[in-house]
Amino acid sequence: MEDSSAPEMPPRTRVPVPSTPSPAQHPTRDTGEEHPLSDPLPFERPANADVKLGPTGRPMPELPEPRALTEHGNARVVSMCNQKGGVGKTTTTINLGASLAELGRKVLLVDFDPQGSLSVGLGLNPHEMDLSIYNLLMDREVGVEDVIVPTGVAGMDLLPSNIDLSAAEVQLVHEVAREQTLQRVLAPAIAQYDVILIDCQPSLGLLTVNALTASDGVIVPLECEYFALRGVALLKTTIDKVRERLNPRLEIDGVLGTMFDGRTLHSREVMDRLVQAWGDKVFHTVIRRTVKFSDSTVAGEPITSYASTSAGADSYRQLAKEVLAAWPDA
Ligand SMILES: Nc1ncnc2c1ncn2[C@@H]1O[C@H](COP(=O)(O)OP(=O)(O)O)[C@@H](O)[C@H]1O
Ligand SMILES: [Mg+2]
Repeated sequence: MEDSSAPEMPPRTRVPVPSTPSPAQHPTRDTGEEHPLSDPLPFERPANADVKLGPTGRPMPELPEPRALTEHGNARVVSMCNQKGGVGKTTTTINLGASLAELGRKVLLVDFDPQGSLSVGLGLNPHEMDLSIYNLLMDREVGVEDVIVPTGVAGMDLLPSNIDLSAAEVQLVHEVAREQTLQRVLAPAIAQYDVILIDCQPSLGLLTVNALTASDGVIVPLECEYFALRGVALLKTTIDKVRERLNPRLEIDGVLGTMFDGRTLHSREVMDRLVQAWGDKVFHTVIRRTVKFSDSTVAGEPITSYASTSAGADSYRQLAKEVLAAWPDA
């Protein structure tokens, strides 16, 4: 007997979802903002067995052993910059710095984020700083050597910061040459160090413009996550404006994929898009996602000492070699 009491609803049918969306379903695919899964990945094509592809899908180059330095100075200044938070700027500053120090470079880290995560990540208490970068920016009597503190890593020092720095952003607006303030106060340190790494705050405001004006290069850490690509165009425009108006030396040293998970198609697709958009500017080195980074932050030290033999530590050591191979006279 038929069930006549059944409600009058259209029958529920399941439409099979094609496992690979056909290109016709995504007619506009080149904006960088489309469905992440529709492009074939370059490294899923049958690869030539002789060519070893790296995590960016390009052949991995041999990185030369960096030369030993006989003297220090003439530092290259590099900003870690991305207006998005949580992408690995601070983690990259600490761990690239520590890896460069392992290679015999004298390194100065500059905490230029009022959140002070870099200082905390190196074991400093934000409430117990005698002097911070705020004093250096605002008080003509304070010199860079008064504010620099050593870190637990041999050969690596720090210019610490805390929440006071947020007041500097407001006060600097009224200064003459307000965009050049960081450059001016860092100048005496250039002769003492081989590399100065500036950890920027997650904004494109006056502090970040100061960092870019003081820099020779920019490294853009980018989380291998789909929405990470949004906003990168604005960052590039800001870098271009600073180069045109304030600092003709400024170069993009590279874009660093962070929190990469090679097991997910998603991470690999984002990497594919990065290489499409930025080409050779994408570092061959990629930083994988691992909880060891948060653990080492809690411990107040770089992963290169907290978990010295971990894959994360090795990735940053490789990044150090990659940047040194590209920097002039490094
Ligand atoms: N490769 C990674 N894998 C997993 N966690 C990471 C990785 N890099 C950074 N983290 C963690 O993500 C959070 C944000 O990183 P952070 O370097 O502070 O970003 P940002 O300075 O850009 O805000 C931190 O808790 C950090 O420990
Ligand atoms: Mg940070």
